[in-house]
Amino acid sequence: MKDKQMSLKKKLRSRDWFDDPLNPGMTALYLERYLNYGLTVEELQSARPIIGIAQTGSDLVPCNRSHVEMAKRIKDGVRDAGGIAIEFPVHPIQETGRRPTAALDRNLQCISLIEILHGYPLDAVVLTTGCDKTTPALLMAAASVNLPSIAFSCGPMLNGDYKGRCVGSGTVIWEARKAHSKGEIDYEEFISLVAGSAPSAGHCNTMGTALTMNCLAEALGMMLPGSASIPAPYRERAQMAYHTGKRIVEMVHEDLTPDKILTREAFENSIVTCSAIGGSTNAPVHINAIAKHAGVELDIQDWQSYGQKVPQLVNCQPVGKYLSEDFHKAGGLSAVMKTLVDNQLVNPTTVTVTGKTLAENYQHSLVINEDVIKPLEKPVNSDAGLMVLSGNLFDSAIMKTSAITQEFKARYLSNSDNPNVFTGNVIVFNGPEHYHRDIENPELKIDENSILVMRYAGPIGYPGSAEVVNMQPPGYLLKKGISALPTIGDGRQSGTSGSPSILNCSPEAARGGGLALLKNGDKVKIDLNNHRVDALLSEDELRSRYDALKEKQLYPESQTWWQEIYKENVSDLADGAVFERMVKYRNISKGLP
Ligand code: FES
Ligand code: MG
Repeated sequence: MKDKQMSLKKKLRSRDWFDDPLNPGMTALYLERYLNYGLTVEELQSARPIIGIAQTGSDLVPCNRSHVEMAKRIKDGVRDAGGIAIEFPVHPIQETGRRPTAALDRNLQCISLIEILHGYPLDAVVLTTGCDKTTPALLMAAASVNLPSIAFSCGPMLNGDYKGRCVGSGTVIWEARKAHSKGEIDYEEFISLVAGSAPSAGHCNTMGTALTMNCLAEALGMMLPGSASIPAPYRERAQMAYHTGKRIVEMVHEDLTPDKILTREAFENSIVTCSAIGGSTNAPVHINAIAKHAGVELDIQDWQSYGQKVPQLVNCQPVGKYLSEDFHKAGGLSAVMKTLVDNQLVNPTTVTVTGKTLAENYQHSLVINEDVIKPLEKPVNSDAGLMVLSGNLFDSAIMKTSAITQEFKARYLSNSDNPNVFTGNVIVFNGPEHYHRDIENPELKIDENSILVMRYAGPIGYPGSAEVVNMQPPGYLLKKGISALPTIGDGRQSGTSGSPSILNCSPEAARGGGLALLKNGDKVKIDLNNHRVDALLSEDELRSRYDALKEKQLYPESQTWWQEIYKENVSDLADGAVFERMVKYRNISKGLP
């Protein structure tokens, strides 16, 4: 026992602060201030792992706010397993509160956590995930630092309800906006409908970016099995907090670090899982970013290679019918993983935070409701993954082809021999403000053969990149029953929107990408059979427009110093919108200050 204590004392990096016999002066200094709220010297020198709890919840971040309470149960688990928990805040991110966009702060939250984990006496960390960008930001940091790490989600909200109808957060906004534009509902009803979709603590209850990323954190192996879908107010959520606290202490003793979990195979599994759950179009940006921080080769083409042919099993909004509470009751992600393992769609041997393999974790899981989690033979959609497109306007863009509605297909069948090939005139918007100002302008002559283009909305152009490509047609077309037009853009789309947009065009217009060359009325051909989007312009014309563009200021001035740093360093959405200069720092926990 004494030998074990000694070897632990040698192994834990927190000893370098709290119990370094070679440097008693500094040890005293490090100890002194951590005693002043009641911790004792005995505890801090008892060779117990010091477990950080990276707190993302606060009054500013309502989605993750329940983590403030949950941290108490995590601490109970840490203490019962023989560790000492130290909770600390990281930079806040609230998807719906941060202007110009929450995406601007994903890398900032990542940086803030990296610096904390590097510079303080911590042996491991619990990542409190939830709202969209908090999950990737914390996983990116954990991958870079490589201390034992475990993710714990705040969980989704309960199902939304409005006058007896099931309404999903985020998703209902797109629908309510259309109804309001058409004059079907007044402003008061618009707000009530939207508020009804968010009935409790927790993150979005649709299969938007938050639930997608938490499911993928579990599929990657970074979260206890069965935990991603537990609604925030359920008792199992707090029980899972306790188990998470216990498990992270064991992970320190096992030296189970993220590099053993975040392997190439685990990322391939996450791509397959994303299709199976009908996941957000934001997943490639975030998963590719986590891979970059983990030092794993993964690119945008992998999303098509591993994910496109995978059927969608989870029947949740925005593409399906149900919400997260139904998903959880139907068996949750565990049931999906079991189906994927049984059908050899994922690699069953990847290691997870339990220390066991993916297959071992889910061997007893069951689908409880086959209308919510469909069997493989009767999916919500076949080929539910992303199509990766290219052409003379961009190197890559993504499209969730399974989101193309029957109405949309029927309309293009009527004017084309092939509904997968469409040529239309573009109407170009330079950012969301331009779109909102001009979309109803009759002089633009937007009709059913128009293609709406959103540019200067990428990571540089609208710093962080805006969720704006899913543009709705003008009110006069909506009233004629045309609920969607083809859209192309260098920004993103909300994970709660089911629009079949061509998104994340890389490189973006603000970097000189081809969307910057388009003018209203140009013809663009979308050919889904060949995965291409091309402007029907000669090479000479494109070249001369490109030369003229070089003279122009492509994007607006920065409003803050962080925006300037961000724009100077960020990569394309296809590459995860990471800072390439940051991702080269890996295994940071090994180097001490
Ligand atoms: Fe926070 Fe959707 S807005 S999870
Ligand atoms: Mg969003």
